Amino acid sequence: MKKITIAEMAKHNGQTIKLGAWVANKRSSGKIAFLQLRDGSGFVQGVVVKAEAGEEIFAKAKALTQETSLYVTGEVKEDERSAFGYELAITDIEVIHEAKDFPITPKEHGTEFLMDNRHLWLRSRKQHAIMKIRNEIIRATYEFFNDNGFVKVDPPILTGSSPEGTSELFATKYFDEDAYLSQSGQLYMEAAAMALGKVFSFGPTFRAEKSKTRRHLIEFWMIEPEMAFVEHAESLEVQEQYVSHIVQSVLKNCQLELERLGRDTSKLEKIQAPFPRVTYDEAIKWLNDNGFDDIKWGEDFGAPHETALAESYDMPIFITHYPTGIKPFYMQPHPERDDVVLCADMIAPEGYGEIIGGSERIHEYELMKQRIQEHNLDEAAYEWYLDLSKYGAVPHSGFGLGLERTVAWISGAEHVRESIPFPRLLNRLYP
Ligand code: 4AD
Ligand code: MG
Repeated sequence: MKKITIAEMAKHNGQTIKLGAWVANKRSSGKIAFLQLRDGSGFVQGVVVKAEAGEEIFAKAKALTQETSLYVTGEVKEDERSAFGYELAITDIEVIHEAKDFPITPKEHGTEFLMDNRHLWLRSRKQHAIMKIRNEIIRATYEFFNDNGFVKVDPPILTGSSPEGTSELFATKYFDEDAYLSQSGQLYMEAAAMALGKVFSFGPTFRAEKSKTRRHLIEFWMIEPEMAFVEHAESLEVQEQYVSHIVQSVLKNCQLELERLGRDTSKLEKIQAPFPRVTYDEAIKWLNDNGFDDIKWGEDFGAPHETALAESYDMPIFITHYPTGIKPFYMQPHPERDDVVLCADMIAPEGYGEIIGGSERIHEYELMKQRIQEHNLDEAAYEWYLDLSKYGAVPHSGFGLGLERTVAWISGAEHVRESIPFPRLLNRLYP
């Protein structure tokens, strides 16, 4: 008997096959039992008809408990009523391990309970779909950057400096020295761009932010491209093409998952480059004209501001040219104004907030040195970084896309805690 996975069933229509699976759910009457089976590759309905499978197998099916693991044998049949398109007419059941009292039942559970049981919650249909979409975004990311001449570079996780400011660092000991967990690989990616031209990284990022919102994780994953000889406006074009590519890839390759999540795909279908560009000045004016008197020029946007700004578009938007004072030290000043920098944040639609932060970088030695001093950074720790503007400095730009916010947006999850397998949150390090 050939052992296959649920995802492979379409290729075995009409054949008798064997599956290793878990019982996700079960429903039965006197004559027929419906088993909702899952094997990681997908979900399928198994049907056990007493008259066909026999008394013994039917009794076994009726006694199955949620999350019991088993091997089932049966015939693959086309089933027009299910989105998956197939079902299994079961003729044999071998129980591997009987699960008793699985804590997550089909009834509603509170968030804290589900989070305490995250290791088991991952098995549910919704979480399975979100993880598959996450995987597709990662796959499409590698595809996009590989197809566009980028080289994957891995920056270090243990670092001695803080690219995004010192308040959100996770300090640790590096033998006798102080060290920090990476809050961005950017500075290392800039060095790599000077060696390899166009580079990207994909790795974990740590922020000791005391924020408890649906957009904040303590540990998250970031994609950080960096490009030599690429200026601010050119970088925005790469960003909108990249984000369009991942959205269109998910639409193409995760249809079942989007359907299972009830995602309104018409909203995603519209996501095609180019994206609107709005300056920070225009954004402040628009907010002040539209009832937000709480924000003044020079201040950073809060979540309600970002949501309101994005609401009038059905596309992600770039907010460009933020005030120098609210952005990190490395951003290139505007050529005609010294109060704003050549940067942009990409704000996702539907209230998901900032998914990308990026900018052109300073490449002039004296200015970089001055900024490091103004920001009270330890010059010795940045000596290597200053070398980049000393030896063949070139205009260059880069950005960072937060994976979990992007996954949350595309899959329609309410909170980033569902878009990473084991979220690290302000009050959560378990499981
Ligand atoms: O805007 P950020 O802080 O930018 C940087 O770190 C730059 N050095 C990136 C670069 O230019 N190479 O972070 C980039 C993105 C944000 O837009 C957001 O999507 C995500 O990372 N992000 C978070 N995601 C989840 N939880 C948090 N606490 C996040 N902080 C930032
Ligand atoms: Mg940012």
